[in-house]
Amino acid sequence: MASINTAFKALCLSLLFVTVSSSSATEPKVFDVQSYGAKGDGTADNANAFTNAWRDACAWKGRSKVYVPKGAFYLGGVTFAGPCNCQTYFVIDGVLLAPTNNDDIKKETWVNFAYINYLTISGSGTIDGQGKESWPFNNCNKNDNCPRLAVSMGFDFVNNSRIEGITSLNSKAGHFNFYFVDNFTIAGVNITAPGDSPNTDGIKVGFSSNINISNTHIGTGDDCIAILSGNTNLFIYNVTCGPGHGISVGSLGKNKDEKNVEGLTVRNTVFTGTSDGIRIKTWESSATEIAISNFLYENIQMIDVQSPINIDQQYCPYPPCKKKGDSHVQIQNVTLNNIWGSSMNKEAVKFQCSKLFPCKNVQLIDVNLSYSGNGGPATALCENIEGSASGKMAPPNCLN
Ligand SMILES: *[C@@H]1O[C@H](CO)[C@@H](O)[C@H](O)[C@H]1NC(C)=O
Ligand SMILES: *[C@@H]1O[C@H](CO)[C@@H](O)[C@H](O)[C@H]1NC(C)=O
Ligand SMILES: *[C@@H]1O[C@H](CO)[C@@H](O)[C@H](O)[C@H]1NC(C)=O
Ligand SMILES: *[C@@H]1O[C@H](CO)[C@@H](O)[C@H](O)[C@H]1NC(C)=O
Ligand SMILES: *[C@@H]1O[C@H](CO)[C@@H](O)[C@H](O)[C@H]1NC(C)=O
Ligand SMILES: *[C@@H]1O[C@H](CO)[C@@H](O)[C@H](O)[C@H]1NC(C)=O
Ligand SMILES: *[C@@H]1O[C@H](CO)[C@@H](O)[C@H](O)[C@H]1NC(C)=O
Repeated sequence: MASINTAFKALCLSLLFVTVSSSSATEPKVFDVQSYGAKGDGTADNANAFTNAWRDACAWKGRSKVYVPKGAFYLGGVTFAGPCNCQTYFVIDGVLLAPTNNDDIKKETWVNFAYINYLTISGSGTIDGQGKESWPFNNCNKNDNCPRLAVSMGFDFVNNSRIEGITSLNSKAGHFNFYFVDNFTIAGVNITAPGDSPNTDGIKVGFSSNINISNTHIGTGDDCIAILSGNTNLFIYNVTCGPGHGISVGSLGKNKDEKNVEGLTVRNTVFTGTSDGIRIKTWESSATEIAISNFLYENIQMIDVQSPINIDQQYCPYPPCKKKGDSHVQIQNVTLNNIWGSSMNKEAVKFQCSKLFPCKNVQLIDVNLSYSGNGGPATALCENIEGSASGKMAPPNCLN
């Protein structure tokens, strides 16, 4: 089975190669959802039409394209599964409308892509999670039996793929979720939900590698980007974040099966009016010992950010939390270079590291954060941290 699959892939890729080097006679075969009965009238459920279009595109022995033209396509929960025979494009120029009632999705993820290689999603369209009606049910901080709202778009075991251009609006829970994904580019995407919409994370990544997020605007009611357990080699470039909770690593250290997070670069990024900017959060007393290492944050602007730099190894979202001991997450090799702008809190820099596993090799270069409120200027907090600082340091360096 695996060898047949590989043979197809080799055939497809060799065709691809010929394609690129010859003429345009080799446009991908188009599977327009309308030819499968989809209606852009905003009311008919198009889940079957979309699934059938995907099935044929995926089985096509050559490059193929699922096409969603302009129009409002109401869509219940769908899974687009591979493996496919060749490279698959999914072009969305219209608007996909989620059911307003979360129960009508019947899945954890509204639009889910799984087990696919060489997928490209693009277009000028929008995926609209229509989350407003379900946000009031998102009360998990108070209610243990709160409903699990659907993520708008998910990628599970999807490799060598990209998403570009589309807009994601008003997800019920998170907008995009990546799980066991390798080599994925997210470029020129616009992710938007109101600042007070609960748990509407922009991009959540777990157990993934070689993820590249660039030229993207993210404004939501939760993390702009949440980097969870088991990620390696993530690259974030030219992202604007706000409103939201910043670019956040964690929370980590709560569950048993967690893995290291290694290799993160965040460059040329602007945070505007967010609660946090650069954030790492780990719970006290962990189930396993894991490491966070080799992080670089460079050329980062903070505009009125409440906590611009916040490493918190006593993470406790809903206090009071029982003091359970020190975090077992080791943070090391973190460089912050050229971070500037304004803090809304006096404590602009916070390194509250684990007593048991102190932060190691933290390098600060040219940090210039101001606080103009009462009792200023800005201050920095250092606990259990080893590292060094050079260049301009405002607030004054607290490393020793
Ligand atoms: C993608 O790669 C992961 C490992 O990185 C693997 O588990 C998964 O099966 C791959 N998916 C496909 C569709 O090849
Ligand atoms: C990553 O994926 C792209 C397609 O999106 C592909 O062109 C490239 O070769 C892949 N890189 C590696 C290292 O496999
Ligand atoms: C993102 O999309 C929202 C909703 O369509 C729109 O209001 C906003 O202008 C867009 N932002 C950018 C940066 O494209
Ligand atoms: C990330 O993607 C952008 C846009 O496609 C590209 O310009 C850049 O070179 C990529 N960076 C890395 C490190 O892959
Ligand atoms: C940064 O991203 C924005 C879209 O959010 C884009 O308009 C702009 O051209 C990008 N800048 C660079 C230098 O790539
Ligand atoms: C941290 O950096 C040091 C010095 O560059 C290096 O020897 C060490 O392997 C790095 N640690 C990890 C976990 O990558
Ligand atoms: C630090 O930022 C302030 C404005 O907040 C600016 O006036 C000052 O020139 C900056 N210092 C350096 C060395 O960049």
